Amino acid sequence: MSHLLITGASQLLTLRGRVPRRGKALSDLGILRNGALLIRDGVIAAVGTRSEIESLPESRSAEKIDVGGRVVLPGFADSHTHLIHAASRAEEYELKIAGASYEEIARKGGGILNSVKKLRAATADALKKRAHAALREFAAHGTTTLEAKSGYGLDVASELKILRLHKELSAEQPLEIVSTFLGAHVVPPEYRRKRAGAEQYIALLTDKLIPEVAAEKLAEFCDVFCDRGAFSRKDSKKILEAGKKSGLAPRVHAEQLTRTGATQLAVQLGAASCDHLEQVSKADIRALAKSNTVATLLPGCDFHLGLKRYAPARALIDAGAIVALATDYNPGTSPTMSMPMILSLACTQLRMSPAEAIAAATINAAYSLRREKQIGSLETGKQADIAIFEVEDYREIPYYFGVNKCWMTVKKGRPVFQKAHT
Ligand code: NIG
Ligand code: FE
Repeated sequence: MSHLLITGASQLLTLRGRVPRRGKALSDLGILRNGALLIRDGVIAAVGTRSEIESLPESRSAEKIDVGGRVVLPGFADSHTHLIHAASRAEEYELKIAGASYEEIARKGGGILNSVKKLRAATADALKKRAHAALREFAAHGTTTLEAKSGYGLDVASELKILRLHKELSAEQPLEIVSTFLGAHVVPPEYRRKRAGAEQYIALLTDKLIPEVAAEKLAEFCDVFCDRGAFSRKDSKKILEAGKKSGLAPRVHAEQLTRTGATQLAVQLGAASCDHLEQVSKADIRALAKSNTVATLLPGCDFHLGLKRYAPARALIDAGAIVALATDYNPGTSPTMSMPMILSLACTQLRMSPAEAIAAATINAAYSLRREKQIGSLETGKQADIAIFEVEDYREIPYYFGVNKCWMTVKKGRPVFQKAHT
């Protein structure tokens, strides 16, 4: 049996309490001052004040990490990423700065199709190497679990290649990867040229790929990009229903560039999460508030694309929706692995308080991944997934931006990142 004692936290954010967090409860971090926790075989055995925990018999023989007055919190659960892709799209970044819109670039064969071309040409080894480097960055910014979507393959072999990489990467490195099938990212080029090509591609998804992905247990969730230039609400319904039938829970890219009604569809289908939401209506907000579908906000996209319209986080929270935050790490709209940067954007652009942002990126994100019993808070019996920040007050986590204040990241009781001494 192995024991690890983490002690000397100026603030230990337990995030204990009601799950999921809605409304006022979103700012409840369950803070312990001068906190400590004891870990037994990767699982939290006790949480309390330094004196309580240090006086436990098991603590005497435990390996000890004194965090010297830093802030300890649950590792971030990044519930929306497009982890596997072959390359950046820096050339499009420059075009966007010069005034081209995301949709214009996509219409000219750039955008998602640009990444599809590059991914199909890449070897599994090259993709894996790039993903490993990204995962080290996620860990270095305090993330301990992340969701990863396919969606840059868009043919049977390439989509399966991505999903198999999710599995291999989970086995080869410490962060947990939750796999989502996003074959419905856009209609691939070879189907665009055909008459009724879109219907044929949707049939490929519903009749072949989804059942195969489910049978091979390559994903837990099925996602659709429901937007102008991607999939309509009607097509999205077909695809998500096929996913459900095969046991893949729905997640949806909804109301990002235009309002399509995807949010209402997500709620009707009991989706785990409904993501983006820049263009939601008041009725959409009400529907989310009454549901258990998580509203996952991705302010990194609007920041990177230079857009002014962010999702109405305050209205969503005040109405009682379950709000989560994620990076949306991807080469086209949000090339960041930094959840702390997302917290900074959530505070200044979404007007969320630092406490709300932290709860959204931990316990509510864990709920959207259906892992709230294992992760998302620091409580006895939960996985010891922990981030330690080089600050004295949790509000300094979003307050500092563009610098990495993460000091240590612990996954299942094992340090997986430690800041070099400066
Ligand atoms: O979440 N909106 C769709 N998917 C991604 C963007 C993908 C891309 O541009 O490569 C997103 O923003
Ligand atoms: Fe996305």
